Formats: sequence, C-alpha cells, structure tokens
Amino acid sequence: MAGNVNEFELGAQKSLEFGSDYVLVLRSLSGFWAIEDRCSHDDNELLGGPVTERDGSAPSIKCLRHGATFDLGTGKALTLPAFKAVKSYRVVLEGTQVWVESKT
Ligand code: FES
Repeated sequence: MAGNVNEFELGAQKSLEFGSDYVLVLRSLSGFWAIEDRCSHDDNELLGGPVTERDGSAPSIKCLRHGATFDLGTGKALTLPAFKAVKSYRVVLEGTQVWVESKT
C-alpha cells in the first residue's frame, strides 16, 4: 500500500520502496500516478520534480538535475537528455487506500 488518500494532498509526492525499485507516487490535478523514481539519464531521483498537466495525455514530470521530462502514464522519455523510458505502475484506489501495482 502506498498510503491513505488523505496523505496525498494535491501536488503531494512520495518515494516508496517497491521490490528492488523506488517508485514515485504522486497526486496531480488529473489523478494519481506512479513511475520509477530514477531518471533514465543519470539515475537522479524524480521526486520533487515539477509536474505539468497536458491536454489529452498523462501529465509529465521534469527531472531536476538536467531537465529531462517523462510521461507519468507510460514512463516514456519525452525530452532529452533522457531517451529511455522508466517503469510505470498502475495506481489502484480501494476505498481510502492507495495501492501501486506492476503493469506486467
Ligand atoms: S539525471 Fe535526470 S536529466 Fe540527467
């Protein structure tokens, strides 16, 4: 479990251990999102990066180190210097509980 819905105010971000990875779970205007908390450019955490809502697509998050951006829905790298995707996860709400699941 990633936490209770009440722990995620709008804009909240949490980095959680998930197996051998860290997963960034966040709540934006468009909902809950979860991706690997490791930039594919040079392994910086994505925690704390600014989130931008996008019409017709999942929001993006920007790595604070060199500025690469990633699609929060798919993990796809949207801008250089990153070109490899990061893992993305499914967020499931059960009552007031927030769960993160692998997409496999
Ligand atoms: S480490 Fe994220 S853009 Fe370089």
